Amino acid sequence: MRPAEATECARQTRVREAAARLAAGKLVAFPTETVYGLGADASNPAAVARIFAAKGRPADHPLIVHLPDAELLEDWASEVTSAARRLAACFWPGPLTLILPRAAKVPLEVTGGQNSVGLRVPAHPVALALLRTFGGGVAAPSANRFGRVSPTTADHVAEELGDAVDYILDGGPCQVGVESTILSLVGDAPRLLRPGGIPHSALEAALGAPVHAAGGDPGLRASGLLASHYAPAARLELCPSASLPGRWDALRAGGMRVAVMTLGALAGRDWPGEAMPGEAVAYARRLYAALRRLDGQDFDVVLVEAPPDTEDWQAVNDRLKRASHRET
Ligand code: TXA
Ligand code: MG
Repeated sequence: MRPAEATECARQTRVREAAARLAAGKLVAFPTETVYGLGADASNPAAVARIFAAKGRPADHPLIVHLPDAELLEDWASEVTSAARRLAACFWPGPLTLILPRAAKVPLEVTGGQNSVGLRVPAHPVALALLRTFGGGVAAPSANRFGRVSPTTADHVAEELGDAVDYILDGGPCQVGVESTILSLVGDAPRLLRPGGIPHSALEAALGAPVHAAGGDPGLRASGLLASHYAPAARLELCPSASLPGRWDALRAGGMRVAVMTLGALAGRDWPGEAMPGEAVAYARRLYAALRRLDGQDFDVVLVEAPPDTEDWQAVNDRLKRASHRET
């Protein structure tokens, strides 16, 4: 056997093992192109309950069901419009979650008691292999404890969840790095509930119709919509480039331990922190790992050089805004 074949063989063995754990009602963490998910058999309410226990997540926060193929849409949603079909055809496998009316077979434990369900076909080859081998729907939130940033490597998952997860499938670092775009097709008009890997304008182009951002609909519970959902432990502060040096000096003068997350190089300044890419896709890919590293270093404040307010930065700006939010 050639080395490449041996590697492929080992991968298949791990995928089969993970699928067997899912079938036995266990929790399996797996890679997707966005972030790592903490999966359980979506048709097994007891298995789904274990997800909430492992994450410390309130039971009324709905989970996304991951499917191996868009052809299974009809099994999981009671009504699949032509718009839903078009979006699935355009963006699946990929970082788009569609909220659709729930089919009767979807346990209410998965949907947090709601009559809608979030569905997506992820683009990661290991996720697809797992879903195909398992053959059903896998309910999976991001594999972090409630309120923490999502994991983008298998090591992050192990640090976050330890023994609370039965099996971790390692698929390398996630390529998108922030969670999927969530589009609700329940109600009168399509609504963007969470910006992510698929840009707003691409959704509008595929639908041939405007897509509005979610308002404060009290009937919708999406934990990604909580203002402080992605909060790391250090205080994050967004700061325009021009004010960065002044703000640094002021915080340091106040005795604070300060790190800086810059857009591009640290420009000759001797600041501790992370020099992030100046381009949005590359920045998103590295965002959560950077926040985790900074969080582990005992800084009081992380000064984040604010990215441009343009569409390509929408998902990153959304996560930075939430991470910098503090309940008052
Ligand atoms: O990229 C992703 O979406 C990752 C990977 C693992 O697929 N998953 C993820 O799951 O981010 P989670 O649970 O961390 O975030 C899913 C979001 C939550 O804000 C949840 O409230 C929302 O989707 N959601 C799920 N079902 C919903 C529904 N029926 N109605 C409204 N929001 C829903
Ligand atoms: Mg999450």
